[in-house]
Amino acid sequence: MMPGKDAERRELVPMQGELAAQADWDYAPAPESRDVVTIAPEYGLFIGGEFVPAADGRQFPTLNPATEEPLAQVADAGEADVDRAVAAARTAYERVWGPMPGAERAKYLYRIARLLQERSREFAVLESLDNGKPIKESRDVDIPLAAAHFFYHAGWADKLEHAGFGPSPRPLGVAGQVIPWNFPLLMAAWKLAPALAAGNTCVLKPAETTPLTALLLAEVCQQAGLPPGVLNVTTGAGSTGAALVSHPGVDKVAFTGSTDVGKEIQRAVAGTGKRLTLELGGKAANIVFDDAPVEGAVEGIVNGIFFNQGHVCCAGSRLLVQESVADAVLGRLRDRLGTLRLGDPLDKNTDIGAINSREQLDKIRELSDAGEAEGAERWSPPCDLPERGYWFPPTVFTGVSQSHRIAREEIFGPVLSVLTFRTPDEAVAKANNTPYGLSAGVWTEKGSRILWMAQRLRAGVVWANTYNRFDPASPFGGYRESGFGREGGRHGLAAYLNA
Ligand code: NAI
Ligand code: MG
Repeated sequence: MMPGKDAERRELVPMQGELAAQADWDYAPAPESRDVVTIAPEYGLFIGGEFVPAADGRQFPTLNPATEEPLAQVADAGEADVDRAVAAARTAYERVWGPMPGAERAKYLYRIARLLQERSREFAVLESLDNGKPIKESRDVDIPLAAAHFFYHAGWADKLEHAGFGPSPRPLGVAGQVIPWNFPLLMAAWKLAPALAAGNTCVLKPAETTPLTALLLAEVCQQAGLPPGVLNVTTGAGSTGAALVSHPGVDKVAFTGSTDVGKEIQRAVAGTGKRLTLELGGKAANIVFDDAPVEGAVEGIVNGIFFNQGHVCCAGSRLLVQESVADAVLGRLRDRLGTLRLGDPLDKNTDIGAINSREQLDKIRELSDAGEAEGAERWSPPCDLPERGYWFPPTVFTGVSQSHRIAREEIFGPVLSVLTFRTPDEAVAKANNTPYGLSAGVWTEKGSRILWMAQRLRAGVVWANTYNRFDPASPFGGYRESGFGREGGRHGLAAYLNA
């Protein structure tokens, strides 16, 4: 035998013995290539089918929150730009899109859906760069669901008279749509696809920290030959959004974001005759009964609050666990959290990416500190945070009482508040003890208990033995401070039709 081989064997032998336990089982880096997307140094507004600078030439930067590196300069739309965009949308509505037969509109929507699929890798990388979310989520959730929304609504465009809204439902006109930063492309798709299918034209205002995929979508619309003015994108901050929703040429306002801004918009729109839908915050209860399969429930808890760094309006941010199984469930949960990988959003193995902005990180820190100060017990798995960028470790608070701020306020980050209950009635009372009412989760083996709970929970969506499941055919929306109106399904179409 050659000496070299022997040496090799000697090296391998200890690995099979007790030293194997000390082996380094960390994943090797598996970054997705950044080269699949070209980011321009600057972007204009998309008005009347063209990319144009803001009238006053103003711009703002968008950053990669994982590194704080500026990605591009983006045009900052003022009132004059919003005015131009609304006028372009009006002309397109009156001359082209409104009169166009539904079957023709459908062809454009199918084309956009297919282009989203064809260019999905580009969209996924761009979304993860601009937002900080893990590539495995942008690749497997955001982009496929965005395409699914265009496919689904394309199917409705020529069947609106059979949708149950009377024989000839009409579009509303120009829709002004303001969206948040947590699912930038997906929220654009939720807003645009039903509006366009129903024959409205749109002015979309993306969030200021995540404008890039909406601008790439505008490019896709150009590529699909969508007539000029049917979609307009006015990038900018809150003042751009405010100019859009209060513009007299807008017939319908759709907003997703914070409850405070939602209330402001409701005041701005009151008495104008504009139609309004609001999708606001949440503080959902994820309820685990003693008969739930523990492994499945733990996966559901993790998915409920750590998906998208907890930047999810329907996040299961309050875990209600039945007292008799609380120790067992929390033990498993801690073990599971120890296996989550936090870091580079472009790495295919990353579970937890970056917090979207410094403002959001400050808010998460402030509320978590308040939780500790109010007497709840804070726990995080050992976790190295990168030096640059905005990061927060997965965090669990136990010993939380219903009056604590972390049990009442939306944290919108990877922070779980744990409460316990003894009886189903107590679970319902605690779950409903919130000003919000967007979603809830129930984990139990008994079908009858699922139905009993679903009838009593004041939430727009109740998931049973699963969490954070979305489908374009299924209406989504809230009660009370979570807003009103539904997005998705036949119900979602109603928001864009004069029936
Ligand atoms: P935000 O509500 O300020 O921003 C959402 C969108 O509204 C952005 O496009 C923003 O530019 C726009 N906007 C801001 N002020 C406006 C105004 N006066 N008129 C019209 N549009 C306006 O939310 P922000 O500050 O980004 O996040 C604050 C908190 O809101 C988060 O911590 C979270 O609790 C909640 N939130 C909830 C979301 C949801 O999906 N329901 C999404 C984003 C935030
Ligand atoms: Mg950004």
